[in-house]
Amino acid sequence: MPASDHRPAAVLNGREAFPHRHLTGIAGLQPHEIMFLLDEAEQWVDANRTRAKSDHRLDGLTQINAFFENSTRTLLSFEIAGKRLGADVVNMHAAQSSVKKGETLIDTAMTLNAMRADVIVIRHGSSGAVQLIADKVNCPVLNAGDGWHEHPTQALLDALTIRRRRGSIAGQRVVICGDILHSRVARSNILALTALAAEVRVVAPSTLMPAAVEQMAVTPFHDFDTALDGADVVMMLRLQNERMSGAFIPSTREYHLRYGLTPERLERAKPDALVMHPGPMNRGVEIVSSVADHPERSAVTEQVEMGVAVRMACLDVLTRGERGVEGWA
Ligand code: CP
Repeated sequence: MPASDHRPAAVLNGREAFPHRHLTGIAGLQPHEIMFLLDEAEQWVDANRTRAKSDHRLDGLTQINAFFENSTRTLLSFEIAGKRLGADVVNMHAAQSSVKKGETLIDTAMTLNAMRADVIVIRHGSSGAVQLIADKVNCPVLNAGDGWHEHPTQALLDALTIRRRRGSIAGQRVVICGDILHSRVARSNILALTALAAEVRVVAPSTLMPAAVEQMAVTPFHDFDTALDGADVVMMLRLQNERMSGAFIPSTREYHLRYGLTPERLERAKPDALVMHPGPMNRGVEIVSSVADHPERSAVTEQVEMGVAVRMACLDVLTRGERGVEGWA
């Protein structure tokens, strides 16, 4: 449904603006709810650019970041976001936890719950693991990436970056290139960007393209050069080797020749097209350094900056009910 068919977030109040207890994915969110989170994040972009970044609205709340998979950007930005809002933030790394001794996911979830966490942020290698935990605990749960499924705050920070750099999301031609099959970032971005009326093209070798991807309201391409024609945004993805069993591509050299973003290839997009990458990047495979580090075209570091603002907005909004904020309790 196009974004224009929905009431703008500005005319909605309290719970009506974002009626969800958890953020497990972009699926299930209305366009105005996505826009509401982006609007909420704007204030934190400005606040984070000042010297005194502290806010106290989450004072006394305990935020547990339970990461069962490696992360740099998402873990750090959730930690910074919680601390800037005043929460007591605790990080649980699976490698040092009782998961290594055979504890089940449900038992781990019940343990975090018994410690009276007020908000739990979870990254897990299995699709659906975050929803499983959300169904068992008494506090809001945020998905920091689960398997091939979703990475909703990545999609929100990408949408915020596009909106700020391009002026809008509706009507933008966004080309997402790489391992679409295994990528939760691709899935969440497709859901968010199509909900907000962007034109989304996905590019991958046939082995890394999901079956029936057209049903997600995107146009699939196997030829990167053709897909780049007139692009406003080019979003590059990493090969998710950790989620592959067997070889999906002949070689990384071959992959780079057909699907790597180079300055020559970028010329097929609009002259001011934005280059994005969620990180971590494999330089020389899906993107070359001169493009990844381009001072005007690359938004890679801005994406990281927007990540903190978006996660502050999500932590704030999802804990409003518990905090008794007027209109949300
Ligand atoms: N983009 C992203 O999720 O990066 P990390 O794996 O470093 O968190």
